[in-house]
Amino acid sequence: MPSLIDNFGRRVSYLRLSVTDRCDFRCIYCMNEDTTFLRRAQILSLEELADVGRNFVAMGVKKIRLTGGEPLVRPNVMWLIQQLGQLPGLEELTLTTNGSQLGRYASELKAAGVKRLNISLDTLKPERFVDMTRRDKLQQVLAGIEAARDAGFERIKLNTVVLQGKNVDELDNLLNYAIERGMDISFIEEMPLGEVRTRDLQHTYLGNDALLEQLQQRYGLVASAETTGGPSRYYRIPGQRSRVGFISPHSHNFCSTCNRVRVTVEGRLLLCLGNEHSVDLKSVLRRYPGDDQRLRQTLMEAMAIKPERHHFSLSDEPQVLRFMNMTGG
Ligand code: GTP
Ligand code: 5AD
Ligand code: SF4
Repeated sequence: MPSLIDNFGRRVSYLRLSVTDRCDFRCIYCMNEDTTFLRRAQILSLEELADVGRNFVAMGVKKIRLTGGEPLVRPNVMWLIQQLGQLPGLEELTLTTNGSQLGRYASELKAAGVKRLNISLDTLKPERFVDMTRRDKLQQVLAGIEAARDAGFERIKLNTVVLQGKNVDELDNLLNYAIERGMDISFIEEMPLGEVRTRDLQHTYLGNDALLEQLQQRYGLVASAETTGGPSRYYRIPGQRSRVGFISPHSHNFCSTCNRVRVTVEGRLLLCLGNEHSVDLKSVLRRYPGDDQRLRQTLMEAMAIKPERHHFSLSDEPQVLRFMNMTGG
């Protein structure tokens, strides 16, 4: 079976599969409070999502990360996770979640074969949590993180989007929280996706270089060659299990090593987070149900339009109109 290689010689081995655009939070860098969601008829069924995952794996994808929206708010999502967890050839099934549903799902996820979890956590302060997510659910998230630890995942990574004037004063606390629990943490530069009305990148953007320098002085971070196959540059803290990652789409563009594509819950194959190049898989799935060859041919052909790089800037004008919850993180 031929593998998925684009015009720049990059091999696609990582699929980010969005299972819903819905979410129980409204994070200020992701959505507006009044964001509306897709209707049932517009989104792929769980069976269609399973078909997409299976065919990607047949074409050489080794890692699937389920994203959203919040993947765990989709009814019966465990069925899909169980299907994907049994795919021969898939080396890693992972999930990015806001943590709110982990109290209910953590052990089922582990049993279904999910090895690593990425959990968003921008603050440990309840009022600030409400400010950043527009929902009062910090305690539920912290309980979810404990449930994930109890379930025994190999690695748990926290994701912190760093916003000047919002959570910069808490980064040490978040790092210590991760260290105490042996979890990894990634600090993320905000990306300008969607017409988020509260976005103010001119004032809230903090480049990861400044942050790295500060943390290097305080924690003696040592650069590590380890990778999860994602965009994080990792650092070790001497004597600790935790790793500190920096995801820096603005200051350290990582497009030349891009190994991934996304499929939105509408069945749009997105070739790059920061561009609109896409292929409509939903039409193929619905016009030719069960025709794996046709779907694989479409995936192969899509490689020709994978763009070389994104062109994010710090302008407050969105460079990509689609919101992050419609994109699959
Ligand atoms: P692993 O490395 O697999 O653990 O995951 P990850 O850190 O890549 O994924 P996660 O879902 O935790 O996302 C963390 C951040 O990285 C989010 O803000 C994503 O939007 C961002 N991200 C992931 N892939 C890309 C990419 O291809 N380009 C850009 N610019 N950002 C990405
Ligand atoms: N820029 C950077 N990261 C974002 N996320 C959501 N929106 C943005 C954005 N505009 C992060 C979430 C989650 C991951 C899937 O993407 O915090 O951890
Ligand atoms: Fe939901 Fe994640 Fe978007 Fe926050 S960033 S609103 S948790 S999808």
